[in-house]
Amino acid sequence: MTDASPRKGKIGGVQVEGKVWLAPLAGITIGAVRRFFRELGAALTHTEMVSSWGLLVKNRKTMEMLKGSEKETPLVLQLFAGDSKSLLKSAEIALAAGTFEAFSINMACPVPKVRKKGAGAQLLYNRDMAVEMVRELAKAGLPVWPKIRKHPSGGGAETLAFCEALLEAGADLVCLHGRTPQQLYAGTADRQVVHDASVAFPGRVAASGDVFEKEDIDEYLQNGAAAVLVARGALRDPFLFQDGAPPVEPLERALFLVRLGDSILEENGPKAAASLIKRFVSGMFKGIRGNSSYRREVASCSHWAEMREKLFSCIHFFDERGNGDV
Ligand SMILES: Cc1cc2nc3c(=O)[nH]c(=O)nc-3n(C[C@H](O)[C@H](O)[C@H](O)COP(=O)(O)O)c2cc1C
Repeated sequence: MTDASPRKGKIGGVQVEGKVWLAPLAGITIGAVRRFFRELGAALTHTEMVSSWGLLVKNRKTMEMLKGSEKETPLVLQLFAGDSKSLLKSAEIALAAGTFEAFSINMACPVPKVRKKGAGAQLLYNRDMAVEMVRELAKAGLPVWPKIRKHPSGGGAETLAFCEALLEAGADLVCLHGRTPQQLYAGTADRQVVHDASVAFPGRVAASGDVFEKEDIDEYLQNGAAAVLVARGALRDPFLFQDGAPPVEPLERALFLVRLGDSILEENGPKAAASLIKRFVSGMFKGIRGNSSYRREVASCSHWAEMREKLFSCIHFFDERGNGDV
């Protein structure tokens, strides 16, 4: 694997020990999950996208999304808003409630509910507002990291021009996902546009898009990305962040999920523990025979307590006979 530790210790104005990071994932990158990935080798994590409007009205659920712990440092808070004043005000509220190393601005979310408010990927159609948001948010005093997609026109030149405008406005880092908003998550991400932006703005572009294998991380870094964001790949293979091989024993892997589920239970309740752990089972046992049928077994549990028992008894599924599918 390419040397993934930063040369000068800072990327995008943030002190960080490595270049492989956990991307923001709505409904997934809650505190317990972020700590889990920090332990597994992610050098930095993001919160899920947090609504500026929710913070402005002090919505209880939104405020809870600001909870973090020292173990998560460095943590980047991602906000989404449709105007710069709300963005700055919400950032100030967030800073009074939690500790973060940088602000990410979501300019990438393609969901209509978000775009209708002028937020997320809608900002790719409104460069003036995107630029104004960067300028305004910089007043909060933390590094500003807009997260964008490939330009809706599909053009590489337009994407680079958008990056340039954000960087000139004072962005410390641009996280670039090589899919247009219209592509949603389908098809393949355009790596070339990310490589081109990484070369055009050295040290100031973090790569996102189709990071599923260590080779994907290497490719982005070798082509000049300052860092790489692991998103769906973190669910498909939680050991992607570390250099070594994953533990061989299924029980050892199961214990990772038991610990994760227990901390989700403590902070977010049993429903969240059961539904999130379901999403991790297949990836956690990747490459072990019997994985698919075991995942179905675990998914059939409706309560965390039952699921926890199933995880402890995983050796009955991954037996020495090695029957079952991979
Ligand atoms: C379930 C899910 C939730 C996501 N939530 C966010 C989010 O809150 N903020 C954001 O900027 N990107 C979000 N993304 C986009 C990812 O951070 C990433 O840029 C994208 O998935 C491309 O990377 P990948 O192809 O390696 O998965 C989300 C993606 C997925 C699949």
